Amino acid sequence: MSILPTIQFAAPVLPSSGVLVLLAGKDGALPPGLPEGVRGAAERAASLGKFKGKSLSFAETIAPADSGLDKILLVGTASSEPLGEEDWLKLGGAIAGKLNGATQATIWTEGASAAPGAREAATIGLGLLLRAYKFDRYKSKKSKDGEDETPDTALAVTIALADAQGAQAQFETLESVGEGVRLARDLVNEPANVLTTTEYASRIEALGATGLEIEILDETRLRELKMFALLGVSQGSPTPPRLCIMRWNGGAEGEAPVAFVGKGVVFDTGGVSIKPAGGMEDMKGDMGGSAAVVGLMRALAGRKAKVNAIGVVGLVENAVDGLAQRPGDIVTAMSGTTIEVINTDAEGRLVLADTLWYTQERFKPRFMVNLATLTGAIIVALGNQHAGLFSNNDELANRLLAAGLETGEKVWRMPLGKDYDKMIEGKFADIKNVGNGRSAGSITAAQFLQRFVNDVPWAHLDVAGTAMGSPSNEYNQSWASGFGVRLLNRLVEEHYEAR
Ligand code: BES
Ligand code: MN
Ligand code: ZN
Repeated sequence: MSILPTIQFAAPVLPSSGVLVLLAGKDGALPPGLPEGVRGAAERAASLGKFKGKSLSFAETIAPADSGLDKILLVGTASSEPLGEEDWLKLGGAIAGKLNGATQATIWTEGASAAPGAREAATIGLGLLLRAYKFDRYKSKKSKDGEDETPDTALAVTIALADAQGAQAQFETLESVGEGVRLARDLVNEPANVLTTTEYASRIEALGATGLEIEILDETRLRELKMFALLGVSQGSPTPPRLCIMRWNGGAEGEAPVAFVGKGVVFDTGGVSIKPAGGMEDMKGDMGGSAAVVGLMRALAGRKAKVNAIGVVGLVENAVDGLAQRPGDIVTAMSGTTIEVINTDAEGRLVLADTLWYTQERFKPRFMVNLATLTGAIIVALGNQHAGLFSNNDELANRLLAAGLETGEKVWRMPLGKDYDKMIEGKFADIKNVGNGRSAGSITAAQFLQRFVNDVPWAHLDVAGTAMGSPSNEYNQSWASGFGVRLLNRLVEEHYEAR
């Protein structure tokens, strides 16, 4: 695996070795107080490179010999709008990309258009960490040829700013968030022959070491609980179903928890309604919703969040064999609702039906947010740029929309309503697991979920387009993005934690 950079914060004292990274403002404005030789070299690099300080633009040059430095790297921060969390993250990520092969670097923050405070500087650090993530566990030859590939050298970065102590403290919190994102990416990137349901459950169990309380329900227990919607999906696979519950009790005793629920289909063949071969390998990521929940819980525990939170993930494989569920089968969900399985490939909603119902029955949460790679239709509607947001509660929906804009994990609200709900009325059972043909496919899927939330404030995030396969950016170069961890961490931090 890639070696993560080590990151520390220090008061601004000019270094005499390594790479000097200078944040520059509008028109390439440089920070005050630079030694003449360094300033001169930086100015020449800027003018030769037509560097105007525009956000995320670069210029670089060899440092003057008497400075002891290797290289000077100018990074623009000028933008017409104030920089938000995602901009600082991108800045850190972009810098990490440019430090390819360096062993030591100092990021000099004073020249930025608006010099970063403690939180912003720490976010630059998180960007460095997230950019360094690489899933190369199964490459027997580690990257030598690819140009873009970051070699596995240890890089020590110092971020220089006045409030170094404050930034260090903020960074300790954000490091946990980074751990959560990296865990989510790892789980999604793992192939399904490695990450079976049982292997997934034992990785969750291992998170007990972070202070999370873990409970794992096996097939016998799921039968006792009458989760026949979830069990039906799983019955064609040799890897057995699991329901995993993660609890973080960082809030006041007795206070109702917030709850996060995830679809954890470790592989989705489609079942008897089998998927076409092209691109089916991507269905190893059909547990992306659950991975975000696991990553979030890891983050909350790591940063000792002052909240009571529950994470519940339903783990199954949607495989196909002689025992697999058939189209036309009728199953009774834990709630008592009967479901006609028209298409065995609409399996995520069957898993979530029982997982959501169980979560609200047992934990009586303040709200539930579920994440699921639920429909191809959400990719048709929103591409890889937004996750679909469906909610029965405007306050929760608006908080998620705002957290999305701040973190760059953007969501877009889609409608729910009686007329869509009618589309899943069953012919032989209470409801059926698909709507009418292809129309409003993501909405009818959400309507299906809503049947199992029992009026608890709820939001469903359809992350089929954002959990994996989104174009790489400054802070993510991996197929799996870890989408949802930073978004929900922000939601919790902003609205549900005691201060
Ligand atoms: N896991 C898929 C959705 C998906 C598609 C996720 C592409 C990521 C990328 C889901 O289980 C599924 O197969 N949905 C069907 C529903 C249909 C049968 C009503 C779909 O979207 O085609
Ligand atoms: Mn499916
Ligand atoms: Zn699926």
